[in-house]
Amino acid sequence: MSETQTLLLGQVLDIHTNPFTVASDEAAAHERRGAVLVADGRILAVGPADTLRAAHPGARVIDHGEGLILPGFVDSHAHYPQTAIIASWGKRLIDWLNTYTFPEEMRFSDPTYAREIADRYLDLLLSHGTTSVASFCTIHPESVTAIFESAATHGMAVVAGKTCMDRNAPDGLRDDARSAFDDSKTLLERWHGVGRATYAITPRFSPTSTQEQLEALGALWAEHPDCPMQTHLSEQTDEVEWVAALYPGKKDYLDTYEAHGLLRPGGMFGHAIWLTNSERDRLREHGAALIHCPTSNTFIGSGLFDTARAIAEGQTVGLATDTGGGSSFSMLHTMAAAYEVGQLTGNALHPAQLLWLATTGSACAMRLQDRIGTLRPGSDADLVVLDLASTPAVAQRHARATDIWEAVFPTIMMGDDRAIQSVYVGGRQVLGPATDPGHSRQVPPLIADSLGL
Ligand code: GUN
Ligand code: ZN
Repeated sequence: MSETQTLLLGQVLDIHTNPFTVASDEAAAHERRGAVLVADGRILAVGPADTLRAAHPGARVIDHGEGLILPGFVDSHAHYPQTAIIASWGKRLIDWLNTYTFPEEMRFSDPTYAREIADRYLDLLLSHGTTSVASFCTIHPESVTAIFESAATHGMAVVAGKTCMDRNAPDGLRDDARSAFDDSKTLLERWHGVGRATYAITPRFSPTSTQEQLEALGALWAEHPDCPMQTHLSEQTDEVEWVAALYPGKKDYLDTYEAHGLLRPGGMFGHAIWLTNSERDRLREHGAALIHCPTSNTFIGSGLFDTARAIAEGQTVGLATDTGGGSSFSMLHTMAAAYEVGQLTGNALHPAQLLWLATTGSACAMRLQDRIGTLRPGSDADLVVLDLASTPAVAQRHARATDIWEAVFPTIMMGDDRAIQSVYVGGRQVLGPATDPGHSRQVPPLIADSLGL
């Protein structure tokens, strides 16, 4: 029997068409007093509040007032094991990996620690309005189990995979070609498609894999082409030079993946800043996605990704925090950084474009756009409700707004987790004040637990 229908009232902004291809007002429908009808964890309808109330008089109503209802944010590249070392000072990529990242990732051989961080991480995501993520794990299979078990507890659609490395990493943090294949296959068969879990084949990046390991993972992907594959590509110039030295027979960085069967639809390439024209052409032709990680690219000093150029040339582009190389868990903050990097590359991205990248764009990069990242009826009801006047500074600018884009842009540029009024995962409210009698504010309990508060 169908569960009771729930009608969420508030402002609704439905960016139904890619705003890089049509004007923002054609790409989106804004209802000042709108509604989203939810049942059985899915979106059933979106429209004016009065119309949906009249059509569904039996629905339970939750009124979010002036709150702006959007699809939950989708973070298409992150490293949950780096949660506790986010904002570590003063290094560039390779030094940063050796100094901060690898010692921390070593700790994930302990399943209790892995689960503690997985819980803390997903709590933090929800408190920032992010309802789905594609995350790297560590080389330890336990780290994959931890994030998928935590995601199941949270009800979240999470993409994750065992990070494979068989060279240029410390003792205790290396597998080999055979065990990378076997462990990834076992985890994939255990988790891929179970509930809301998606398994991603995950070579960390070419410098930490031998050709044998890349070959093995390419073979695994050929057996399971519906899985995504996530890795890093051309993040820093010295990394690109290192790859050229490690792979003398390959024509460029992308070829180190392509030659081993790791370039096909469903490939998600983090950063992708320092690309040749040939690499750009091949990425597009093979239907891979480029993942823009703007807070990371500025924080680790990697470079400026040109979003408008990538989209104009037909690339699929997702937006991501790259926690903990990125300096924030927040997709609001990430949109602000994407805007600033856009300015530095000569394109002021419109708020519609920023919001689309943080929802539908990332979902497309993960090939999950039929399930998440939009308000399309039939989609999973993963939703965020934004308070567009969450602090005095944001509120006073919001008060001058003359349209929805001016109303939301101050929150994109200056908002943080205080702007997250409510969050729904699979139709269930997991954060925010419920207006029903008998419900009180539900703060995700696990952050407090894991910090011993
Ligand atoms: N390249 C290889 N591993 C990593 C990582 O963990 N973070 C970032 N930003 N780049 C990488
Ligand atoms: Zn990364």
